[in-house]
Amino acid sequence: MSRLETAFTRQVGIEVPLICGAMYPCSNPELIAAVSEAGGIGIVQPISMSYVHGHDLREGLRLIKSLTDKPIGFNALVEASSDAYTQRMKKWVDIALEEGVRFFITALGNPSWVVKAAHAAGGIVYHDVTERKWALKALEHGVDGLICVNARAGGHAGQRQPGPLFAELADLGKPLICAGGVGDEAGFVEALDQGYAGVQLGTRFIATTECKAHDDYKRAIVAADGDDIVLTDKISGVPVAVIKTPYIERVGTKANPVMRRALRHPKLKHYARMYYTMKSIWQLKRASLQGMSYKDYFQAGKSVDGITSVEPAGDIVRRYAEAGRREVVAKTA
Ligand SMILES: Cc1cc2nc3c(=O)[nH]c(=O)nc-3n(C[C@H](O)[C@H](O)[C@H](O)COP(=O)(O)O)c2cc1C
Repeated sequence: MSRLETAFTRQVGIEVPLICGAMYPCSNPELIAAVSEAGGIGIVQPISMSYVHGHDLREGLRLIKSLTDKPIGFNALVEASSDAYTQRMKKWVDIALEEGVRFFITALGNPSWVVKAAHAAGGIVYHDVTERKWALKALEHGVDGLICVNARAGGHAGQRQPGPLFAELADLGKPLICAGGVGDEAGFVEALDQGYAGVQLGTRFIATTECKAHDDYKRAIVAADGDDIVLTDKISGVPVAVIKTPYIERVGTKANPVMRRALRHPKLKHYARMYYTMKSIWQLKRASLQGMSYKDYFQAGKSVDGITSVEPAGDIVRRYAEAGRREVVAKTA
């Protein structure tokens, strides 16, 4: 059996165990379609689709379907921040199901309602986890697999390195996806050899011709190395991995002390989180689309180490797949 055929590829019906992870604000339909068309799977981020890239969700999903007939996935952030948000997310998940999406990645809360809806339609749900206690909770809610977000990831990173995180979750009996730090083929093959059933990349797919992020952002990813990645809680109130650009050096990486206190305060923390969510949605959109002319708030993970050029997303998927096959041939020769 090829290393590329895993429990994950069989569940989702794809050829290469490679996910282009959901990225607010970098997930645009053309990028998602290019990854799926090449044999991996691209994930729709609904807020990125609508608020950043200007597509009504159904119309955006149809645009992707006009570019590829291969499977795509959908990111449902199930944080119960308000009733209105939950209702909107439920509507989006229904639309995704109606448009034929059968793979869901949930994060940040209780995924049981997504599991119920997806399973009723024959779908599959994986949940983002950073440690065992969250994994156990997610499994209680019936998810089919786990996205193991490690300390090298772009976006909201975890605390564990990929190896220890795998060891902590391996006995749970579900397919595990390595999310974070993989920026080249060697890292992809290494993760599969560790026992992961697939690998989710984010940063690597920003530096592609299909991603609509500003060229300043892509250039900063290509130029950066792992030591340039720092965590800041200034953007969203919780640590986010960004490139240490001159702007980040100037403004620092710590939220102001009043807001830090508000984030811990039992009565105020809900409002403080809401404030940060709105602020980060707006700031990250502008930074991604306007580059240095706004503020160079460029989210990226330690995977920048392996990224040396901007290239078509499909070429990346094919190159990684080839490396996976080659290694198997070398091992069995
Ligand atoms: C710019 C950016 C935005 C992200 N936004 C989201 C998101 O909206 N939802 C989510 O579940 N994960 C999000 N992530 C995490 C990615 O889906 C993926 O797990 C992560 O990027 C993997 O680490 P890597 O960047 O080192 O490849 C984001 C990552 C980046 C870099």
